[in-house]
Amino acid sequence: MSLKLVNISKIFKDPDHANKEVIAVKDVNLEINEGEMVSFLGPSGCGKTTTLRIVSGFENPTTGEVWLGDKMINDLPPNKRDTAMVFQSYAIFPHLSVGQNIAFGLELKGFKADIVKKEVEEIMSIMNLTELYNRSPDQLSGGQQQRVALARSIINKPSVLLFDEPLSNLDAKLRDLMRFEIRRIQQSFGITSIYVTHDQAEAMIVSDRIVVMNEGHIMQVGTPFEIYSHPVNKFVADFIGRVNFINGIVEETNEDASYKVGIGGKSKLITSSISPFSVGDKVLTVIRPESLSVSTGEQDSTAIFHGIVEKAVYLGPTVEYDIKIEGRENISAVTHNPVVEGVFKPGDRVNIDFNPAAAHLLGA
Ligand SMILES: Nc1ncnc2c1ncn2[C@@H]1O[C@H](COP(=O)(O)OP(=O)(O)OP(=O)(O)O)[C@@H](O)[C@H]1O
Ligand SMILES: [Mg+2]
Repeated sequence: MSLKLVNISKIFKDPDHANKEVIAVKDVNLEINEGEMVSFLGPSGCGKTTTLRIVSGFENPTTGEVWLGDKMINDLPPNKRDTAMVFQSYAIFPHLSVGQNIAFGLELKGFKADIVKKEVEEIMSIMNLTELYNRSPDQLSGGQQQRVALARSIINKPSVLLFDEPLSNLDAKLRDLMRFEIRRIQQSFGITSIYVTHDQAEAMIVSDRIVVMNEGHIMQVGTPFEIYSHPVNKFVADFIGRVNFINGIVEETNEDASYKVGIGGKSKLITSSISPFSVGDKVLTVIRPESLSVSTGEQDSTAIFHGIVEKAVYLGPTVEYDIKIEGRENISAVTHNPVVEGVFKPGDRVNIDFNPAAAHLLGA
């Protein structure tokens, strides 16, 4: 089922100051398509959990409407909403076996035993849990427990699944695995889902679209690719991955919304930008570390900058550099083929350049 949030705001009374308010969520408008998985990504306190709780009915919005399909559900209590929450704590019953845990929801609804058995077997097979049918929860790994908890939510066939940082209790390796697992399961059941996280890699892996939030507001909604390569503002660019902001001045504007930008005495034709600019405007060129090229040898007069390596971190497949440029902020660069391209050391003089196709302009 599709889900729509219309002008949602949530204002709390400040628990510490009687006449002060906390604006947790402000003017949130969002449409999530049937079967789509959208993640809410943003720093601590930006309103992710509050928005999720408004969808589930555990919190009432101060203003605005929640729509499930063509029904406005503001006045429905949580248990009538057809949404299911998946938390970081697993909420599985320790005294029941895996199979009994998963069957629990359907038994509670009074389904006949043979139907429950069939549904449980089907869901356990899709979720790779079949061999664990008779295990008790304390004989499971963290990832298996998380999958059992997910199976328990999914078996009720909710219209919407709500995940609030479901993997934050797991160790890094298991978390990496479970991201793909959750995505696979969500796609095979086609359940409309919201996934709250403050981990950008996690958001990129599990989402059809990412909603970047800051201080209660939606900053940008887009596919992982759009958010990473065409951020609408500095906050989004900075929050998603590492980034360089390079000052420049618009030298020429073109019909096709491309701009010739002067940077460090050179010009680059940049085709991706946020707002219309005029000649003379100050702009920020957003360029990711991996889109910079770093070379050494004689000073390359076509390179946009010359700098001195301050820090080099060799990671095997990549090398991360911090490079000092005269009169500018340091530049982060990542190279990807150290065996061929070499590894530069602190103190090395390097040429830095970038392909303008990888750059994106924001207003300064
Ligand atoms: N019951 C409440 N009373 C007062 N303020 C609250 C209440 N619940 C949340 N807040 C405040 O609302 C804001 C948003 O909180 P929320 O829990 O939605 O953030 P979050 O994005 O989920 O953060 P985190 O990543 O830390 O979980 C915060 O400033 C928080 O302190
Ligand atoms: Mg939260």
